[in-house]
Amino acid sequence: MCGIVGYVGKEEAAPLIYGSLGKLEYRGYDSAGMACIANGSIVCKKDIGLLEEVDRRNHLVDMPGKTGIGHVRWATHGSVNQTNAHPHRDCKNKIAVVHNGIIENYKELRAALSLRHKLVSETDTEVIPHLIEEEMEKGESLETAVLHATQQLKGSYAFLAISTEAPGKIAGARKDSPLVVGLGEDGSYATSDSYAFPAQVRQYAFIDEGEVIVLDQGGISFLDSSGTPRQKEFLPLKISSDAVDKAGYDHYMLKEISEQPETLRCSLIQDKNYFTELAMDILRAKQVVITACGTSRFAALVGRYLFSKVSKKFCDVIMSSEFHYFADSVDAATLVIAVSQSGETADVMEGVKRAKEKGATTLSIVNRPDSLLARISDKVIHINCGPEISVAATKSFTNQLAVFYLLAYSMVNKYDWAVERLRDISYNMFYSINGHGHQIKNIAEILADRKDFYYIARGINYAIASEGALKLKEVSYIHAEGMPAGELKHGTLALIEKGVPVVAICPNDYTFDEMLNNIAEAKARGGVIIGVSDRFDPIYDHWIKINQVEEIFYPLVTVVPLQQLAYYLARCCQHNPDKPRNLAKSVTVK
Ligand code: M6R
Repeated sequence: MCGIVGYVGKEEAAPLIYGSLGKLEYRGYDSAGMACIANGSIVCKKDIGLLEEVDRRNHLVDMPGKTGIGHVRWATHGSVNQTNAHPHRDCKNKIAVVHNGIIENYKELRAALSLRHKLVSETDTEVIPHLIEEEMEKGESLETAVLHATQQLKGSYAFLAISTEAPGKIAGARKDSPLVVGLGEDGSYATSDSYAFPAQVRQYAFIDEGEVIVLDQGGISFLDSSGTPRQKEFLPLKISSDAVDKAGYDHYMLKEISEQPETLRCSLIQDKNYFTELAMDILRAKQVVITACGTSRFAALVGRYLFSKVSKKFCDVIMSSEFHYFADSVDAATLVIAVSQSGETADVMEGVKRAKEKGATTLSIVNRPDSLLARISDKVIHINCGPEISVAATKSFTNQLAVFYLLAYSMVNKYDWAVERLRDISYNMFYSINGHGHQIKNIAEILADRKDFYYIARGINYAIASEGALKLKEVSYIHAEGMPAGELKHGTLALIEKGVPVVAICPNDYTFDEMLNNIAEAKARGGVIIGVSDRFDPIYDHWIKINQVEEIFYPLVTVVPLQQLAYYLARCCQHNPDKPRNLAKSVTVK
């Protein structure tokens, strides 16, 4: 879950690499570092902390050299300290490497290499520069050394290497971790994510597994696994820089919450015939299993409800990290739907690979169009919410919900009707987001000192209660639990005492009366009730008034104030909601 960047060209590498690393910080932000080649030597600077902090202390952007690599880290092997930060180097400081992934056989490799090399960190990555060193000492070129090194690695990797023996060159490779290359007029780039290319990059290409890439002053070349050069198709790069900046908001999270009316409409840019075909696939499948993690799993739970309620198609949702324990029940007559914003979550990828091995058909619902998941699935739906930079998923969630509505209504030939309803909801959302901010901020200020929050709901909104609780935990570090309101009395009610906030999602629908009973039980124990509802009741201590919509669509309007509540509580607790501690946006470890 790290981000890597490389640049070779006419310009000074450091400022360009630094700019790209800033856009990759969503992948990891516990340490950062860069290495450049200047005057025949490797200059390497790295440290713990956010990229900006590392730069403030070490002046990363001032590093000289027109060839360089950079890294932002989310620690997996080895604690967060300066030595474990990337780049890692060989014994003679002639080779430097940045890596994203996990080298599974690193213990064996370290043990063997330690007999001849000096390894200084606790990381798995450090084996790579030493493997390259051994190869280059045999007289191999940097790219051949990289190729031979990859033949000894097990696990997942995307890495870039530079060497003083080849000062104007970067070589790299990938397996199960993302890496793309881009061509600009000033030089050649490699990065974990095409969002991180600077504006001058107009064309980019994917790197296939087993390939080695070489970036030099002449451009970018590709070698296959036998070392033979191969031609590659470059694609035009179409990313607006507005989509990846904060556009005047304090945080990406707030920007992305506010974008939802517009992004929801983008989720509707789909091909109706394709959805009809997918609806037939779902209806025909002997069994349908949806797999996802975190917020995407809560979207899947809403999807399960919709499939059952609208299209009378029962399906199950299995969290991806548990998927392989159910793999025995997956067969060629199973349709596995994988939901993932990033399309690179390791648990989801693993589940889909398992499903494919079992002969199942796979359909992925993704945001990142060029993601690994999209590329390995039989069929893909793009949710089209644009880059989501904040670690907390917001607009991707509502777009995932929209796609589930479209699928469910396609199964009953009401695709157009669903599109119209969703378009109406998007306008509703606009008024709600703009009307609520101030009130929710006040509620957050009042409740910011509370240690635990409970979120309750019934029916289709149960998943929204869970999502509200996850959002709060993630960005404010306040403990929260979401549950079906009817479950409260089966144990959790023991934790409700004076002053404990209970966020009750109780739209004016078939759940309202029973919700009020459950709310009364919590209130009787001293709970502070935050009612998220279109219908007032004096039992609420705070009423967040939502707009009335058709009852099946309530999740789209109830979730937004919960995102806002989490955001403002994080602010009150003085946490940066975009970069919660210990987390990263793309979870590429199992
Ligand atoms: O990219 P994915 O949708 O596969 O990510 C899954 C989870 O890691 C993600 O939803 C996570 O729970 C969010 N940070 C929650 O806001």
